[in-house]
Amino acid sequence: MTAVGIDAIEIWTGNLKLDLPGTFAPQKGEDPEKYTKGLGLNASSFPDSYEDIVTMAANAARRLMERKGLEPDDIGRIDVATESAFDNSKPVSTYVAGCLEQVFGSDFHHANKGERKFACIAGTQSLDDAYNWIRAGRNRGRGALVIATDTALYARGDAGEATQGAGAVAMYISEDPSLVELSTDQGYGSADETDFLKPNQQFPSVDGKRSIQVYLARMREALEDYESVAGDVHPDDFTFAPFHTPFPGMVRRAALLAYRHVIRDTSIEDDLAAEIGRQPRAEAFDDDEAYHDALREYMDALKETERYQAWYDATIDPTLTISREVGNWYTGSVHVARASALKTAFEAGRDLTGETLLIGSYGSGAQAEIHAETVQEGWESEIEALDVDEQLDARYELSWADYEEIHDAHNHEMDVDVEEFTTPSDEFVFDGWGRMGERKYRYVE
Ligand code: COA
Repeated sequence: MTAVGIDAIEIWTGNLKLDLPGTFAPQKGEDPEKYTKGLGLNASSFPDSYEDIVTMAANAARRLMERKGLEPDDIGRIDVATESAFDNSKPVSTYVAGCLEQVFGSDFHHANKGERKFACIAGTQSLDDAYNWIRAGRNRGRGALVIATDTALYARGDAGEATQGAGAVAMYISEDPSLVELSTDQGYGSADETDFLKPNQQFPSVDGKRSIQVYLARMREALEDYESVAGDVHPDDFTFAPFHTPFPGMVRRAALLAYRHVIRDTSIEDDLAAEIGRQPRAEAFDDDEAYHDALREYMDALKETERYQAWYDATIDPTLTISREVGNWYTGSVHVARASALKTAFEAGRDLTGETLLIGSYGSGAQAEIHAETVQEGWESEIEALDVDEQLDARYELSWADYEEIHDAHNHEMDVDVEEFTTPSDEFVFDGWGRMGERKYRYVE
């Protein structure tokens, strides 16, 4: 069977940066370590006044197409995943195609375009759609452009304000990919949940503490479902586990639970037994409360073991390096985590070809998906081509007053004109409104 998967990836960050320990924490009267150690975040990316989900998506896609020598005719499908859309009818992918047509000499009139919505998991769902479309043989030799783009802004004063972010990840999905092949095996955990939603409003209604519990419950369900088709997962089966990363502290919790799950009934559990005992089993307890107390105690001890910490440092920590500097990109976050892990391995000179990644995606509302990916020959040059460090370094650092202004500029309920903080160059910019309320875009040399 021909491999199908991600051939190339590009990351585009919003052009502004908010320093969380240095600028945000003092304004909130909080200890900076709540952000750096608790949430695991140093900074958030923000969109400048001329940036939005379309400009970031189109900028990432243009870079990807130019680097890979792709023309519009090579692309049979454009799917944009977002939870920041501004139109209930016209999909963001049409705007993105319109932008790209300004710089490429031909058009995307024969590409199927759509928009995917399921909170932060929609990017992964779009990958799945592209994979299925190619596997079904409907692609006529063409690939799919999948773009996850979001301005993940929260209302001022919301607890989520500390985890904001803005950016886009563009991916080209094709046969014989150069980055990763997607597995056919998938596991889902999905339920009607009320943890985070945007009922026709720009800023989300969030029950933050509940969203953490729902993330963990659905992820566990997805892992069990994945194991029911792929067999039991063992820590040695995968090199990295990129999870959806609303903030690194969330992944820290998910990783501990996942590790406990995948070491159960293995020699690792046996090896650790002398130090921390064996994992509590439900059948050994008369009531749930006692069982959960014992589980918590076991997890607290597991977290402190050298074995767990070494696994975490090798398998999870490398997935978080970009996220720490950009915050939550909603649909793009798990794809940033994958890129971050591969980038860390590349910089360490490792050869990952043939190795496995276990991808854990999550979207509130709620659904988790687990699938595996195999790193492909050629992955190094794809990762080497990323210029994410340069982009992060080039961001303009917001003062508190700047931050208040730019947040208002992106608040759809406010009508404020904010001077741009940066000068756009070689990128698409928002260029005002058209006669039917459509957004207009222009490429700036
Ligand atoms: N030093 C070190 N750690 C500190 C600290 C300090 N001075 N102060 C707080 N912390 C830790 C807390 O212990 C907590 O870590 P833990 O969860 O591992 O115990 C973490 O920092 C966050 O502190 P908390 O008080 O829980 O933050 P909060 O109530 O302000 O908000 C969220 C946290 C996640 C609820 C909030 O950011 C949110 O609503 N986010 C949006 C929703 C979201 O992203 N959900 C995730 C699933 S999609």
